This record gives sequence, structure tokens and C-alpha cells, in this order.
Amino acid sequence: MNYRHAFHAGNHADVLKHLVLLALCDALVAKPAACFALDTHAGKGLYSLDAEAAKLTGEAAGGATRLAGTGDPSIARYLAAVAACRAEHGPRAYPGSPWLLAHALRDVDRIACCELHPNEAALLKEAFRHDPRVAVQERDGYTAMKALLPPRIGDTRFARGLVLIDPPYEAQLEEFDTALGALRDALARWPQGTYALWYPIKLRRTLQPFYRRAKDLPAKSALVVELLVRPDDSPLRMNGSGLLILNAPWKLDEVLQPAVRALRHALGEKGPGEARLEWLRSPA
Ligand SMILES: C[S@@+](CC[C@H](N)C(=O)[O-])C[C@H]1O[C@@H](n2cnc3c(N)ncnc32)[C@H](O)[C@@H]1O
Repeated sequence: MNYRHAFHAGNHADVLKHLVLLALCDALVAKPAACFALDTHAGKGLYSLDAEAAKLTGEAAGGATRLAGTGDPSIARYLAAVAACRAEHGPRAYPGSPWLLAHALRDVDRIACCELHPNEAALLKEAFRHDPRVAVQERDGYTAMKALLPPRIGDTRFARGLVLIDPPYEAQLEEFDTALGALRDALARWPQGTYALWYPIKLRRTLQPFYRRAKDLPAKSALVVELLVRPDDSPLRMNGSGLLILNAPWKLDEVLQPAVRALRHALGEKGPGEARLEWLRSPA
């Protein structure tokens, strides 16, 4: 486990992932019933773009630092969340997914965050020690999906909620196998949950087997949202990223389509990048 998200915080992939995460949270809280969120690969929750790691790669310069308002409401929502994080933690802070979940969800909602790396898990626990809604567990996120789904805390069973799976892909293609297997199992346990799996894009054509297998998962719908900031002509670089969203909330595609189109222009490295939003399986 060599991956540390501090080197990549606020890059173009974080922008896409965190913008989609906020849209999913906002759809959940639009209804009054309490919901549950599981962040299987949580990281340490909060980053500084002034940290040595972030300065070494400078990746945020092609992502969060570069992005300005475009008039799109989802982008405005994302920028407002980053601004709220900075108001609390300083002008160079960048929010991780646990921080965004805690920001976007309500007092009635509950959040479980798993992180396997002991140092990152300790920092995550520290970051949320005063938030009774957030349970931090130092454990494997895939095993946690088996243990925690369907979500139930005390007498409360949660009918609605979200699972974010954001692995580091150190295992490369094997990570897709593991994640797809975990999703299949989780859908059997908690069929009505919304699931979002983040994935890196190097050469998009190599993802065809993943799309085929994702389409076959027993979900009501499967949507992919992707952003390439440069042509996918290099197998060595992360040229873009995507999210597979299973059981997407109603009209999520209509919310995200203009946002990814605007991101393509805002974050394309040399001229506009490419954006794709496609139903692998449309909602019935
Ligand atoms: C991409 S980062 C997470 C970033 C975070 N989701 C965010 O958006 O702010 C992946 C994290 O997963 C952790 N990790 C790696 N394998 C894991 C596993 N099997 N279970 C839980 N966490 C794991 C890594 O230590 C790393 O902190």
C-alpha cells in the first residue's frame, strides 16, 4: 500500500468524483428519510494543497485550482463546498470524500468511512472525532461492504443511501475484478442502494470488458460519467477518469450532462478535453 492521496488531492479526477459525490448526496437529502453513506476507501478526509506531497506533483493546478465558476449549478455547488472547507480549515485546504459527505448530509444521516492505511485512518479518526454521525473504521473497504450492508444502526434500517468505492488501483486490472465482485455481492444484500465506483482512464478501449461486466450487474440502472483532460493516447498516464453509478437517482444524467461538458472546457489540458455520459443500462 504505497498510494497516498495527498499527492493527488484536488486533481482533475478529484474534481469529477467530488462533483458527482455532491450531486448524489443532494439527491439523497431531497427526501426526508434518513440515509446512510459508506466510503469504502476514504483517505484521510482533509488535505492541504500547501503540503509537500501536493506541491511535488502540482496536480491540483490542473483541477481544483484551475476551475472557476462556469454558470453550471453542479460546478457552483462543488466550488461552494470547497470554499466552505477553506473557510473552516484555511485557504489552501482541499476536502476529501469523507469531509464532503459530512458537509452534504444531515444530522439524521449516518456515514461510515473505511481506510486501511493506519496513518491515514488515524488522521481520519482525528478529523471526525467530534462528529457523531461519522464512524471511522481502519479496515478493508470491500470486507466492510459485506459487514455493513444492508445498513442498520441500532434499530434504524436505512432504506436509502450511497456507497462510494474509490480504490487506488495499485492492483491495476485486478482492482476492477475485486470492485465488480464486491458490487455484485452488495447489490444482492442492498439492492436499492446507490453505488458509485471511481476508475482511472489511461486507454479507454482497454475498459471495454469492464463496461460489459458493469452492464451485467443486477442493478436497476448503470450510468458512466467520464472526463478526459487529454487524448487517451498514452497507456502510462491517467488521461482521465470516470464513475460507474449504479441505481442513479432520478434525472442525475440531466444534472451531470451540462456539468461534465463545462468541465471538459475548463479542465482540458490543450483545448477541450472529452466528456462522456452514457447509460450502460437505462432505468426502466
Ligand atoms: C483514492 S484514495 C481515497 C480518496 C478519497 N476517497 C477522496 O476522494 O478523498 C484511496 C485510499 O484507499 C486506501 N486503501 C487502499 N486499499 C484499501 C482497502 N482495501 N480498504 C480501504 N482502504 C484502502 C488508501 O490508503 C487510500 O487512502
